[in-house]
Amino acid sequence: MRLFIADYSAGLLQKRYIVAELPKLLFANDTFSLAVCSHLLFLYSDLLSLEFHLASVLELSRVAHEVRIFPLTGLDCEPSPHLAPLQAELPRHGLRVEIAKVNYQLQRNGDKMMKIQKIS
Ligand SMILES: C[S@@+](CC[C@H](N)C(=O)[O-])C[C@H]1O[C@@H](n2cnc3c(N)ncnc32)[C@H](O)[C@@H]1O
Repeated sequence: MRLFIADYSAGLLQKRYIVAELPKLLFANDTFSLAVCSHLLFLYSDLLSLEFHLASVLELSRVAHEVRIFPLTGLDCEPSPHLAPLQAELPRHGLRVEIAKVNYQLQRNGDKMMKIQKIS
């Protein structure tokens, strides 16, 4: 957080912080090594459909070599209902999915992330 805040003003001027909106991003394929998505996908599963989640993850995977999404719970602190369908569907798009435990959490049960990588 400190690194981000210290960099933010310069990063804005240098156009390194760019506003975009899932499920469509304006970046070319494979622009980034890593895309991180925190407290949007899965968390708002009652508002954002499975179709939105799938389109968003495919788009993030298009622009980045690896995608990490955290946490995997909804606002009710229960695992998102979109989790299992996405785990089943993403390998059909050439993506490897891994659920990894992390050593921090902001919500009850919110100590896991999804890592998605292209199968090369
Ligand atoms: C709960 S906040 C999380 C903010 C930050 N990622 C964090 O973890 O502290 C959810 C964020 O998702 C953003 N958001 C909402 N709809 C979005 C979309 N379709 N594409 C990208 N970001 C979106 C909101 O603007 C808001 O900043």
